[in-house]
Amino acid sequence: MLKKFKGLNQFFHLAQNKVNLTFSPFVVTIDKQVLQVMQASDDDIPNLLMLEQKVYSGYMPWDELSFRTELNKKKNTLYLVVYHVSTLIAFIGVRFRSREAHITNIAVAPEFQHQHVGTFLMQLMIERARQNGSECVSLEVRVDNELAQKFYQLLGFEATFIRKNYYQDIATDALNMVLWLKPHQVNKRKKLKF
Ligand SMILES: CC(C)(COP(=O)(O)OP(=O)(O)OC[C@H]1O[C@@H](n2cnc3c(N)ncnc32)[C@H](O)[C@@H]1OP(=O)(O)O)[C@@H](O)C(=O)NCCC(=O)NCCS
Repeated sequence: MLKKFKGLNQFFHLAQNKVNLTFSPFVVTIDKQVLQVMQASDDDIPNLLMLEQKVYSGYMPWDELSFRTELNKKKNTLYLVVYHVSTLIAFIGVRFRSREAHITNIAVAPEFQHQHVGTFLMQLMIERARQNGSECVSLEVRVDNELAQKFYQLLGFEATFIRKNYYQDIATDALNMVLWLKPHQVNKRKKLKF
């Protein structure tokens, strides 16, 4: 295809509001660990469940059906897994809405936490959201998960509002956090102070 038509093609792609969900697997070294990053498939579900169990000490917010449903929303969801040799050590999921990229899930195996794997995955998805023209990246985090909130704040996320009883099975509220990628109007009534 001629170069000028390639540009046009990109314009039509954005005009149709289609998000780019293609992903080529790659190998990356983070804190001296060689890791493989790839798109998740149904085959990863047993490993995802095992990792979730380890990360949340037995409590499993997502069951097999939740993972299977999310992984098969091929039109607007990008789900990545990270392997160290043959062990799943991290994952992240994002759902692209019309103007917003929503992080649905992220976890890093306890023995790999605090080694910048989480930051790497978040930055990868934030960059993808930027490329897809998202105005913001949003997420929910348990109000009592202060470590994760600090982690998101370091990435530039701001606390916005509380979703009451969001995690119904454990009767816990969620804090909604947003990272703005484009200029926006702040809703002062909703913005929370910490
Ligand atoms: C939250 C989570 C994804 C962060 O991933 P990670 O790979 O450990 O994070 P990083 O190493 O990139 O940390 C970046 C910064 O966040 C902060 N941070 C992350 N984990 C922390 C911890 N356990 N204790 C204190 N600070 C922490 C630190 O400031 C860190 O920067 P530094 O290492 O330069 O001091 C990971 O800890 C995790 O899986 N937690 C359990 C599951 C969870 O809570 N998921 C979020 C649900 S909303």
